[in-house]
Amino acid sequence: MKKKILIGIALVVVLAQLYRPEQNISATPAGEFDIAKKYNVPQNVQQILDVACYDCHSNNTRYPWYANIQPVASFMANHVDEGKHELNFNEFTKRRVAIQNHKLEEVIEMIKEGEMPISSYTITHTDARLTTEQKQTLINWATSIMDTLKATYPADSLVLKRKRA
Ligand code: HEC
Repeated sequence: MKKKILIGIALVVVLAQLYRPEQNISATPAGEFDIAKKYNVPQNVQQILDVACYDCHSNNTRYPWYANIQPVASFMANHVDEGKHELNFNEFTKRRVAIQNHKLEEVIEMIKEGEMPISSYTITHTDARLTTEQKQTLINWATSIMDTLKATYPADSLVLKRKRA
C-alpha cells in the first residue's frame, strides 16, 4: 500500500514536468517603446533595473536552472506574467503619458515600502536585494523622469482618468 502511494506521488511529479509554461524570452527585448529610447536611463540605473527588476518587468527573463522544474516553473511564470502586465520597461512608452507617470509614482512607492523586488525573489536572487543607496538612486531617477514629464506635457494630460491603469 505504502509503495503504491509513493509510486503514485512519483508519477504525479513526473507528469507535472510535461507541462511547460511559455518562457519570457525575446530576441529583441528593447524595441522602439523601450523606456531608454525616450527618457534618460543612466548606466548605473539601468544596471540596477537589469539585476533587480527586469526578470519580471521586461521582455527577457534570465531563468535559473530550477526554473525548468515544476511547480517552480508555473510559480515563476505567474509572477512574470503579472509583473509584465503591470509594468514593462521594454514597452514603457506604448502607454499613455498619464499611465507612464503613474507607473513611475508606483515605482517610487514600491521601493520606499520595500515591496519590490518581491520577497520570494530575493531569497534566491541575493544580488537583487537593494541597498539603501540603490533604492535612493532608483527613487531619484523616477522622480527626475516625472519632473521631465511635468515640464513637457500639460498638467491635465498627466492626470490618470479612472479608466483602467
Ligand atoms: C520576481 C518578479 C518581480 C521582480 C523581480 C520585480 N517585480 Fe515588480 N511586480 C511583480 C508582480 C508580480 C507585480 C504585480 C503584483 C503586485 O503588485 O504585487 C509587480 C508590480 C510592480 C509595480 C506595481 C505597478 C502598479 O501599477 O501597481 C511596480 C511599480 C513594480 N512592480 C516595480 C518593480 C521594481 C522597480 C522592481 C525592481 C526594483 C521590481 N518591481 C521587481 C513582480 C516582480
